[in-house]
Amino acid sequence: MGETVLLVGLQWGDEGKGKVIDALSARFDLVIRFQGGANAGHTIHIGEEEFVLRLVPSGILRPQTLCIIANGVVVDPVALVAEIAGLRQRGVQVGENLVVSDRAHVVMPYHKALDEAVEKARGDARLGTTKNGIGPCYADRASRCGIRFAEMMEPDVFRARLLAQMELKNRILQHVYGAEPLDAEAVYEEYCGYAEQLKPHVQDTVPLIHQALKDDRAILLEGAQGSMLDLNFGTYPFVTSSEVIGGATVGTGIPPARIDRTIGVVKAYCSRVGTGPFPTEQSNEVGETIRRTIETHGGREYGSVTGRPRRCGWLDGVALRYTAELNGVTGLAVGVLDVLSAFEKLKICTHYRLDGRELRSFPASSEALEAVEPVYEELDGWQTDISGVTGWEELPPQARQYLQAIEDLAGAPVEFVSVGPRRGQVIER
Ligand code: GDP
Ligand code: IMO
Ligand code: MG
Repeated sequence: MGETVLLVGLQWGDEGKGKVIDALSARFDLVIRFQGGANAGHTIHIGEEEFVLRLVPSGILRPQTLCIIANGVVVDPVALVAEIAGLRQRGVQVGENLVVSDRAHVVMPYHKALDEAVEKARGDARLGTTKNGIGPCYADRASRCGIRFAEMMEPDVFRARLLAQMELKNRILQHVYGAEPLDAEAVYEEYCGYAEQLKPHVQDTVPLIHQALKDDRAILLEGAQGSMLDLNFGTYPFVTSSEVIGGATVGTGIPPARIDRTIGVVKAYCSRVGTGPFPTEQSNEVGETIRRTIETHGGREYGSVTGRPRRCGWLDGVALRYTAELNGVTGLAVGVLDVLSAFEKLKICTHYRLDGRELRSFPASSEALEAVEPVYEELDGWQTDISGVTGWEELPPQARQYLQAIEDLAGAPVEFVSVGPRRGQVIER
């Protein structure tokens, strides 16, 4: 019986989702992206090759897997066309195995220009977005003035909607933000070209997905970003503009009751790109050691999309308890455990202290989060190289104790442990 499995990041993104999905994708007939856009960067290492996938689902490297970019994703055609070309150039088959929903919203140049202009206007209060136009595109979707592939595929409909939008958006860009206006006719011409190139991939994904459910096909739902960046439950306003938590249903049309299992991906420590509260951040030798160690192990703690150094810190158990509960995770995949081999002692934040009080639940206010003091439990490190370990029993006892602590916080069993960036460096329990 084919299961429908949701895989979702439980921290601030970059937990190693791409790596875990690649390890699992051979067992699935379909891999579906359901939210976010080209702000995502999912890294997969195969041999000496590194692939960073932004819009294309991480199942694309297995030719028999059907990859769907579903309706909840905001798709930048420039990024998608480039990504497809880049994959093909490296010998990856991208044809009928990639489908894009005609209900997915299209990221337009004015979304990217607005993302840039709004961030600039925010000054020191900027969110540190990836400037991929994600926020403005989702805002237009909610304001009911977005353009979807369904519209973009009809030249006359597209032209009318685009020109009307660009008239308004140019006024905002010029008069509110003092930015350069965009040439509507040039945008129309350019995007008709992308519509033509993407046409073979665009279709109604609702019947396709529901037929797969009827046929009991195995479906993997690939979350992007992380639950702490979720629009509703994340560290608002320092979040992304999509529903990481719960988005798998509205973003695909799969009924909630059809999701059989939810795997939460937990990085063994925490990282965050962009601004916003991060209680367990270590802007010191600990953070430096993490960044240095992952490089020597073949990974990276620099943004996959923007190249910005990622802020690193100890595992935040308060945040983990919160996101594991919200997602209803049934199992965990722990990523990047090998990097913690560098430390003699490891710390996990079990609760916060705020104004002399103990806080075990995750507060809504970013101001409160900036003010909390993390309280840590200290655990012994293992200080041996675990990157070649293939079986659970071979893991040092200290590593198993650390994983046990994660299980206790998340209330779900660890099913997978990733011990290196490469395909194969994964332990299945
Ligand atoms: P994603 O967005 O969740 O898919 O994660 P990213 O690909 O943005 O970031 C994870 C980084 O860690 C990438 O450079 C990966 O190659 C690397 N990586 C993933 N899993 C592991 C692991 O188990 N060990 C090490 N050392 N690196 C890993
Ligand atoms: P993956 O899927 C890490 C962060 C940005 C910024 C905030 C808002 O690779 O885990 P946006 O461009 O979405 O409006 O930016 O969200 N962010 C991510 N951080 N990994 C990601 O994706 C991210 N996608 C967005 O850095 O702080
Ligand atoms: Mg990433």
